[in-house]
Amino acid sequence: MITISTRPDLWQRLSAWRAAGDRVALVPTMGNLHDGHASLVRIAKRHADRVVVSVFVNPTQFGPGEDYASYPRTLEDDATRLQAENVDLLFAPEIATMYPLGLEQATHVSVPGLGDELCGAARPGHFDGVTSVVLRLFALVQPDIAVFGQKDYQQQLIIRRMVLDLGLSVQVELGPIIREPSGLAMSSRNGNFSNTERSIAAALFEVLQVVAQELAAGNRKFAKLEAKAMRLLTEAGQSPEYVAIRQSADLAMPDAGSQSLIVLAASRVAGVRLIDNILVKMP
Ligand code: PAF
Repeated sequence: MITISTRPDLWQRLSAWRAAGDRVALVPTMGNLHDGHASLVRIAKRHADRVVVSVFVNPTQFGPGEDYASYPRTLEDDATRLQAENVDLLFAPEIATMYPLGLEQATHVSVPGLGDELCGAARPGHFDGVTSVVLRLFALVQPDIAVFGQKDYQQQLIIRRMVLDLGLSVQVELGPIIREPSGLAMSSRNGNFSNTERSIAAALFEVLQVVAQELAAGNRKFAKLEAKAMRLLTEAGQSPEYVAIRQSADLAMPDAGSQSLIVLAASRVAGVRLIDNILVKMP
């Protein structure tokens, strides 16, 4: 594996691969890698000859007062992990490489509508930061395939919409949520938890499963199920932000005939914001 941090080095390597006819996959990350990222790399390897993983803690997707400064930066460990996964190229740019005109002058891209609700409502501007940096990564790497995780379900839908709208020739693949033995979805932020906090955090998946089971049994009282889940999360010691039952295709409100649903939630434990979701097929 080679580690590259500049645009010219990246382009040189990529053009050699393209000349050889290789298909290139990109796995965009913010580092502090865990088994969830490793599973995305394995999916990327199934679809492409060459796998690029980017590690970049993107400042434009963090709001004021969020954890940009304290976000775990573990590049050496990440490189070791990626080497073990036989990744071809680790792209670890500085801010000036990603935003050469500076953050104030940076070009932004925004997907309207879908980015304003659920996680977007609680984190105004967050998804604009995500689409803007992902578009930059797509422009720099020009991947044939890009792999994102289902844990960030709203994010991948927004990215798909950007790809469709702008006519980008990138195939977006979705990797399943990888969980700790307790059911807690793996996340770069889980490392901040004490043992007690970690078991409180595990209640998020338990509660989502309760809702998913009710839905799968035919319960369509969506608002009541959401309210019940909020109560169960609070009783478990969490500070839930939202629990929402939506149509999985576009996150629209479900109706009496909706078949493919998703239960999504965001909740805080010890100041750490967790997100999780479960896809449900209605009977
Ligand atoms: O999901 C993430 O880790 C980030 O939002 C992403 C896609 C790498 C963009 O910074």
